[in-house]
Amino acid sequence: NKPVKVGLLGLGTVGTGVVRIVDMHQEDLSGQVGSPIVIEKISVKDREKSRNIPIDPSRLTDDPWEVIRDPEIDVIVEVMGGVEQTRTYVLEALAQGKHIVTANKDLMALYGTEILAKAQEMKCDVFYEASVAGGIPIIRTLIEGFSSDRITKIMGIVNGTTNYMLTKMSKEGVTYVDVLKEAQQLGYAESDPTSDVEGLDAARKMTILGTLGFRTNVELADVQVKGIAGVSQADIAYAKNLGYEIKLLGIADRDEDAISISVQPTMVKSSHPIASVNGVFNAVYVYGEAVGETMFYGAGAGEMPTATSVVADLVSVIKNLRLGVNGLKQIAPHKPKKLKSDAE
Ligand code: NAP
Ligand code: HSE
Repeated sequence: NKPVKVGLLGLGTVGTGVVRIVDMHQEDLSGQVGSPIVIEKISVKDREKSRNIPIDPSRLTDDPWEVIRDPEIDVIVEVMGGVEQTRTYVLEALAQGKHIVTANKDLMALYGTEILAKAQEMKCDVFYEASVAGGIPIIRTLIEGFSSDRITKIMGIVNGTTNYMLTKMSKEGVTYVDVLKEAQQLGYAESDPTSDVEGLDAARKMTILGTLGFRTNVELADVQVKGIAGVSQADIAYAKNLGYEIKLLGIADRDEDAISISVQPTMVKSSHPIASVNGVFNAVYVYGEAVGETMFYGAGAGEMPTATSVVADLVSVIKNLRLGVNGLKQIAPHKPKKLKSDAE
């Protein structure tokens, strides 16, 4: 099979991770999809900026349209962020029959319905696993893993920045301002970190999880939001004395005919598993009528965990291209299983 050519919009924290993983795991990835994966063109804001990875400058452009309109490119990976302009790029790429992988929860929470409808019309894939909980494959779990069940509750820590901040404030006494700077330097925070600390990022993620989990059209305006900006070190110490940790929790509930979704700082009993989710880690608790309680845990932000989800989506898109289908599907493993004991 000839190489699959990919266009990358953005080479920041997540985009850099995508290039690294495609490079590092190329042999295994091409084994899975049956052809090499080539990142053909990359759009950035500033072509002159120094990068953390060696990149052939001829592959860089400061014009996203150059990537979107390249007829050689089959798949667009959008990791530049933003909403209005990005929506235009994604819709135009779909109109040209290109498949989309995105990490952009802002885009999917606000325009997911429109984008998925366009994808369906064009028989294209739009995968967005990295948009919620970084490296935890929670989106495919809700779509496929629980397709047989009726989910009644989704609850969790879905913002890595604020969990990192609350953990450091609680365990090391670092100040709010200093720890926010740290989270930014580590690449966890959004370009405007107000959306992290004010709970909007978590609300966007809960919009996506509610929509998928409850199989209904949750809108961002349906989510009640309160962030951690008002949480002081004194509040954290007070809660601790009472045997609680303060966590920014997203909670989505449904009964027979109504749902409720909120994001707010919450006192969680120290003995509860959610209380020991620390640092950049996220955890998502899902309750289904048949399955009962389940919980998913892993890094919620950062270069390599997030890029793991993005590249997994890329693999799914390319497998679908090979099969001539769309959506989440399985195909047979590409090579026979080899056990360690076989080599002895
Ligand atoms: P980032 O580090 O700020 O990188 C953004 C990239 O997009 C940069 O390469 C930037 O170019 C490029 N860019 C920005 N505006 C552009 C424009 N108008 N035209 C062309 N290029 C433009 O962001 P990030 O942290 O990688 O996040 C990217 C997306 O992934 C966002 O939607 C974010 O919400 C999502 N996400 C991030 C994480 C995380 O842990 N960081 C996790 C999950 C999802 P320059 O390099 O030249 O500045
Ligand atoms: N700013 C986001 C967070 C990135 O801290 O969770 C991952 O979506």
